[in-house]
Amino acid sequence: MKAIVCEQIEQFKWIELEEPAFEPGEAVVRIKRIGICGTDLHAFKGNQPYFTYPRILGHELSGIIERIGDNEAGLREGDRVSVIPYLHCGACIACRNGKTNCCTQMRVLGVHTDGGMRERMSVPVTHLISANDLTLDQAAVIEPLSIGAHAVRRSELKPGETALVIGAGPIGLGVMAMAKQRGARVIAMDMNEERLAFCQRWAKVDHTVHALRDPKARLEGLNAGDLPTVVFDATGNAGSMAGAFDYAAHGGKLVYVGLVKGDIAFSDPDFHKRELTLLASRNATKEDFLHVLDVVKSGAIDVGGYISHRAPFDEMIARFDSWLRPETNVIKAMVEL
Ligand SMILES: NC(=O)c1ccc[n+]([C@@H]2O[C@H](COP(=O)([O-])OP(=O)(O)OC[C@H]3O[C@@H](n4cnc5c(N)ncnc54)[C@H](O)[C@@H]3O)[C@@H](O)[C@H]2O)c1
Ligand SMILES: [Zn+2]
Ligand SMILES: [Zn+2]
Repeated sequence: MKAIVCEQIEQFKWIELEEPAFEPGEAVVRIKRIGICGTDLHAFKGNQPYFTYPRILGHELSGIIERIGDNEAGLREGDRVSVIPYLHCGACIACRNGKTNCCTQMRVLGVHTDGGMRERMSVPVTHLISANDLTLDQAAVIEPLSIGAHAVRRSELKPGETALVIGAGPIGLGVMAMAKQRGARVIAMDMNEERLAFCQRWAKVDHTVHALRDPKARLEGLNAGDLPTVVFDATGNAGSMAGAFDYAAHGGKLVYVGLVKGDIAFSDPDFHKRELTLLASRNATKEDFLHVLDVVKSGAIDVGGYISHRAPFDEMIARFDSWLRPETNVIKAMVEL
């Protein structure tokens, strides 16, 4: 079968792979959709930390089960599935505490181990969720939206509470959509006008704030003089992450969804006087996937609008370069098999 491997920085190559083994506890899945995200773009460009080559990319996956044994989940051959790409060990302290999303031995498909840019792959049955009621596109975007769902769940955001989401990329958009689902008032902040307009159209955020135009005063103006009680940063920008402390209300929470390679410094007096809660949010759990699946099934999220670009598998290599260019306004590119 055919696969695309990222052989080294900025180099994809077609290869011929052996058919996946059919091991106990695993299912063979025919891959039908591969969502492309920042992680893939960074891996291709060579600025993804701890990345080794060659690697088959692709972790936002949906497909159809081709072979499966008896299983407790009741999954069967022919079922449409979404893949949870976070392979956890099941034994470490995080796994034992149900926090499989931050397993000490985490292996993410398409990052630490080969992913889904191939016709078929074997996946642990525990990492498949039935998506027969969803389209293949919907099933493939559960993963990026689950990142947002996990961050929102961690924040314990309440209905009516005002949340600020900084960064209107595909990850921030997922946070916004899931925060709206939770009944919060959501304010989006970015420096990109087009993305801010998209937040209003797609995620139905209540307000948008330009990050360079006196944002603090504008936030207070939009919220009866108060700052938001929950701030999410999904920029992947260290300056924004450090500055985000200034936008959280006294007694509020700051959730880092985006991440950077370096250190982030903050003023302890500012942190303390606000008695802020600082939270990291990493990946997502099965619970988050199942929640997003329900929300998508209800029709509350416009998956068609989220997918901005598409390409058949055969054309992926040729199109990939264009998805790296900001002027193409990519939100989510989807590869079809
Ligand atoms: N928590 C997780 O498990 C997880 C999973 C996937 C990605 N991520 C991270 O989430 C972050 C966002 O990913 P993405 O794909 O949406 O990225 P993206 O680059 O597409 O979007 C980031 C957005 O932030 C905006 N931005 C950048 N600097 C800003 C600033 N100073 N002020 C305001 N806005 C600013 C940009 O204009 C852009 O719209 C990245 O750091 C990524 O690594 C985290
Ligand atoms: Zn991704
Ligand atoms: Zn573990």
